[in-house]
Amino acid sequence: MLDNKLELKISAAADMLIASKKLVIFTGAGVSTESGIPDFRSSGGIWTKFDPDDFTIQKFINDPKARKKHWDLIMNGGITADVEPNSAHYAIAKLNMLGKLDSVITQNVDNLHQKAGVPDDIVLELHGNMQWVICLNCGKRYPFEQFIGLSDLSENIPDCEECNGMLKPDAVFFGEQLPQHVLQEATLRSSTCDLFIVIGSSLSVYPAAYMPEYAKQAGAEMIIINIDPTPCDKFADLLIKSKAGIAMENILNKVKDKLQR
Ligand code: APR
Repeated sequence: MLDNKLELKISAAADMLIASKKLVIFTGAGVSTESGIPDFRSSGGIWTKFDPDDFTIQKFINDPKARKKHWDLIMNGGITADVEPNSAHYAIAKLNMLGKLDSVITQNVDNLHQKAGVPDDIVLELHGNMQWVICLNCGKRYPFEQFIGLSDLSENIPDCEECNGMLKPDAVFFGEQLPQHVLQEATLRSSTCDLFIVIGSSLSVYPAAYMPEYAKQAGAEMIIINIDPTPCDKFADLLIKSKAGIAMENILNKVKDKLQR
């Protein structure tokens, strides 16, 4: 049972969603924690256990010890766990089926929006996708799962079978450029939407965190659904400090109720 304050916010969010003509949803690691994937900056998050300075692209390429650390975090840090979408992911996919979703801009590399049924072509993955491993020399891509069975990968990291080049998960590391075509598309969608909903992000990493600013500059309304405060809270038209699954499931049900009236 929702408390009265949350109930009112859920209803207001549903009204904003129904009135919206171009909805963009922006997600961070917080939308996947209820699926069992740790986020980065909450208490117990990945960057409270590992030092992010050890995880730059420069260290990955130049320092074999750092490369081992990267693979160890990737294989054993929980970010590539074989998990299922949660109710927040499914609610977002159902909003798309109601014809209410322009695009999902995500910082996540877990593929859970697609697994929940959001079509690939409207998921903009700013930080890549951990489903692939890529050769830094020739660009050949390998499905990530073909490495999962290997004995402790961080001990014997394979090279590219085509050119013996260095292999790297196809996610964007610190210090690495984001995929420019995705960044441009995400910037365009954020700058032309009329409703921008942030779900589960600390909005602390750029250029991804520019997206909510672009949306506000373009006159869009903004809803932030996040447990902890974010730097953009002061610009939000509606703040919902709730777990993503509860919030999104109740917003979806309220939208469906109101549309049926
Ligand atoms: N419901 C709602 N909010 C949640 C939930 C939940 N179930 N779980 C966590 N959160 C919130 C936390 O309060 C936190 O503010 O989600 C936010 C997650 O923030 P971060 O851990 O910083 O994750 P994110 O914003 O995605 O980080 C951005 O940083 O390290 C890089 O590349 C990495 O893409 C990542 C980027």
